[in-house]
Amino acid sequence: MNDILPGETAAWQYLEDTLREVVHAYGYQEIRLPLLEKTELFKRSIGEVTDIVEKEMYSFNDRNGDSLTLRPEGTASCVRACMEHGLLHNQVQRLWYAGPMFRHERPQKGRYRQFHQIGVEAFGMDGPDIDAEMIFMTARMWEKLGLQGALLQINSLGTLAARADYRAALVAWLRGHEAALDEDSRRRLESNPLRILDSKNPEMQSLIEAAPRLPDYLDEESRVHFSALCALLDKAGLRYEVNPRLVRGLDYYSKTVFEWVTDQLGAQGTICAGGRYDGLVEFLGGKSTPAFGFALGLERLLALLQAGGVALPESLPHVYLVLNGDRGVQDGMVFAESLRAALPGLRLLSNCGNGSFKSQFKRADKSGAAFALVMGDAEAQQGTVLLKPLRSKSEQEVVPVQDVSGRLGELLEMG
Ligand code: HAM
Repeated sequence: MNDILPGETAAWQYLEDTLREVVHAYGYQEIRLPLLEKTELFKRSIGEVTDIVEKEMYSFNDRNGDSLTLRPEGTASCVRACMEHGLLHNQVQRLWYAGPMFRHERPQKGRYRQFHQIGVEAFGMDGPDIDAEMIFMTARMWEKLGLQGALLQINSLGTLAARADYRAALVAWLRGHEAALDEDSRRRLESNPLRILDSKNPEMQSLIEAAPRLPDYLDEESRVHFSALCALLDKAGLRYEVNPRLVRGLDYYSKTVFEWVTDQLGAQGTICAGGRYDGLVEFLGGKSTPAFGFALGLERLLALLQAGGVALPESLPHVYLVLNGDRGVQDGMVFAESLRAALPGLRLLSNCGNGSFKSQFKRADKSGAAFALVMGDAEAQQGTVLLKPLRSKSEQEVVPVQDVSGRLGELLEMG
């Protein structure tokens, strides 16, 4: 679990603002969800035999003896909230949320125990058009951010019935090759055989290549849905790869699944993932409702932007106000307020706690400000300030108080 330090928060804010703008451009509305839910909700939604539920949840009993869990993801909470507040009755919903998620995984680069997601969910639409809309949205996010090097992979898992047929065929085939399975896969053979296809063990790869393939078991409805989605992506000129072994680590998916992956972040290369989960609302006790969604990991996105050399903003002050003498301090504080009012967006740091000119200029320099403004008793009396560039060799200027906002506006290209 990481602290995000002052030097890093401007980049986070930029990332969050940019992504929010994109999501809003598609008409999605924000929903804010609690960090805790009943443990049962995640067990039922994500699946009892998934890694998340089996070994990664932060669960505890509260004072009433109820088992609660720090959310490992947002989809389950979003569905719970929509059902609880009647948001799914005869209507479609397009929603998004942001915030920390918690998984007790083994930490490594790009994998943390508290990490941050932006999640997007749509309810009530069963066609491939909403699948495509969401995938377009993710592509637009990368374009806006200047993100390079992410590859889109898609697959169809079919309906629950088709997947059950495939599961049975896969288990039967793998049983015939049990000696070649590694320990992890042998354990999964009973509980979650599809995840064997996801194994990263190089020694398992030729076996996986030879195993029965999910696409051969797809039902007609899922096949039609998937090819219509591919046609929409083709029409938009979006590049993608069909990966028949893409299965996802959460149980609620059916039909379309997708991931954006990169080879630039080491082992944790998935920056964004999601898909269709038509059965979940009904499974949790609601009316049958089609649904599609995805979530992206902000830490991984930020790391990929940094790896690609994308310049991320820092929130350094524009101006450091040096104040000296009783009148200088009094007039200067009022002057600072008028400057903030005149130039929205101006980041003006006033010196507090006095100090010699020398020490104040040291602070000004350390703050990273582009300019110092100096108001001492003499300037206060004359109604001027001294404007001194700190990061260039330009000359300092004496500026009448009433002209400072105009002059700063020009220099900072503001207003
Ligand atoms: P997920 O694949 O578990 O899906 O997580 C989505 C994204 O969150 C991952 O692709 C990754 O970028 C990020 N992420 C996951 N675990 C970690 C971690 N330990 N450290 C850093 N980043 C991580 C879901 O959570 C689904 N709820 C997505 C979804 C929404 N499907 C439908 N709607």
